[in-house]
Parts: sequence; structure tokens; C-alpha cells
Amino acid sequence: MKLLLLGATGLVGRNVLALALADPHVGEVVAPTRRALPVHPKLRNPQVDFDRLPQDADWWQVDAVVCALGTTMRAAGSEQAFRRVDHGYPLAAAKLARAHGTPTYVLNSAIGADASSRFFYNRVKGELEHALAGEGFASLGFVRPGVIGGHRDEFRLGERIMVMALAWTGPMLPKRWRLNPAPRIASALLEAAIHPKTGVHVVTSDQMV
Ligand SMILES: NC(=O)c1ccc[n+]([C@@H]2O[C@H](COP(=O)([O-])OP(=O)(O)OC[C@H]3O[C@@H](n4cnc5c(N)ncnc54)[C@H](OP(=O)(O)O)[C@@H]3O)[C@@H](O)[C@H]2O)c1
Repeated sequence: MKLLLLGATGLVGRNVLALALADPHVGEVVAPTRRALPVHPKLRNPQVDFDRLPQDADWWQVDAVVCALGTTMRAAGSEQAFRRVDHGYPLAAAKLARAHGTPTYVLNSAIGADASSRFFYNRVKGELEHALAGEGFASLGFVRPGVIGGHRDEFRLGERIMVMALAWTGPMLPKRWRLNPAPRIASALLEAAIHPKTGVHVVTSDQMV
């Protein structure tokens, strides 16, 4: 199969990439990024500006899209800029993939995604899920992790404290609130892409501890 991966340089995305490149079901990974990835014989890595996605690229036509693209409020700088990346880019890519006949889309969403939430982050994720559901994919997967565990080059103080606290208290917590290691999330995303289920389906945080 041919897979289109968005966010391949990120914590979850690079785990998806490693799993996909090693998986015999996957013949080719197309990973559009803004900075180049290491060369691999199964990897096609167009460098793109996500504000100007190429409308007619042949690589929009794949068997499945996995989206692990997203930013933080801190990096984005404003709610508007955050929404452009976390909602605008995944949806724009979905529309292009759909227009080129791609049947399956799997989103790395988040626990608490809810279009009517009073929390901005949860609302953006919920609104994205809602918008994607209107795009007509035969299979649409929402993988909703809680706090993601794994090494980041970027220092995020609040998140690091949360990760350490969850690593210590994890066994005492309900599964839903435990840390979700990035490789577990990546594996759930790839599974939903390689073995697509018809309709909309959700993978919850307690399934990825
Ligand atoms: N952090 C958590 O605990 C948590 C919990 C639940 C859900 N999530 C969600 O899970 C998803 C993946 O998280 P992650 O921790 O793997 O993310 P990450 O490590 O921050 O990686 C984000 C990816 O998105 C790309 N990206 C960010 N801004 C971009 C822009 N302006 N243009 C193009 N590409 C851009 C990054 O590319 P560059 O390398 O070029 O920056 C990178 O590939 C996100 O949507 C996040 O909201 C996170």
C-alpha cells in the first residue's frame, strides 16, 4: 500500500514513519514536510509550504493518509495561528487527498476532542474531527491519545512535568489518564491505515497505555 504521512518530523509522526518504512504492507511512504527527512528507498519526501499545498501533485492519491501534524499554542503564538496549523492544514490535506480518490484518513486527535468544549484546544480538535467526517472518506479513524510519552528535542516545561508525574503515578491511575507512549500511538495510527474499518471509528487513550 501507499501511505501519505503528515507531521513525519514530529514525536508521533517519526514513530509512524519508522514503523511504516519497516512494514512489509507498506510499499511507499509519501511524507511532505517543511524540512528534509533522511533518505530511504521507500520514502518520497516533497518539501512543501503548508500554506501553499500543491493542488495537482500525484502523491495525493494514496491508499491512506495518517495525520500527526500539529503545533502548540506557544509555538503558534495566537489562537488564530494555532487553528491554522491544527485545523486548517489537516483539513486542507484531507480535501486534496479525497479529491484525488484517497479512501482512508487517520487523524492523531486528542483525548477530550469536542466541538462544543469550552476549552479552545479540545474545541479545535473536535471541530477538525467534525469537518473531516463531512469529507466522505470510506474509512475515518480518530486516534485520541492523552499525554504523549517520548523524547522531544524541544523543551516543553509543563508537558515534561506532566509526563514525569504520569510516569510515576501511572499504575495507580485509571487507564484513560495514563501516559500514551508515542510508539503505541503510532502503531494504532498505522493499524487503522493498513486495515481500514468502514465508517468512523475511534481509538481511545486507554487502548494505548
Ligand atoms: N503533546 C501531547 O501530549 C498531545 C496529546 C494529545 C494529542 N496531541 C496532538 O498530537 C499531534 C502530534 O503530536 P506530536 O507531539 O507528535 O507533535 P510534534 O512533535 O510537535 O510534531 C508536530 C509535527 O507537525 C509539524 N508542524 C508543526 N507546525 C507546522 C507548520 N506550521 N507547518 C508544517 N508542519 C508543521 C511539525 O513539523 P516541523 O518538524 O517542521 O516543526 C511536526 O512534524 C498534534 O496534533 C498534537 O496536538 C498532543
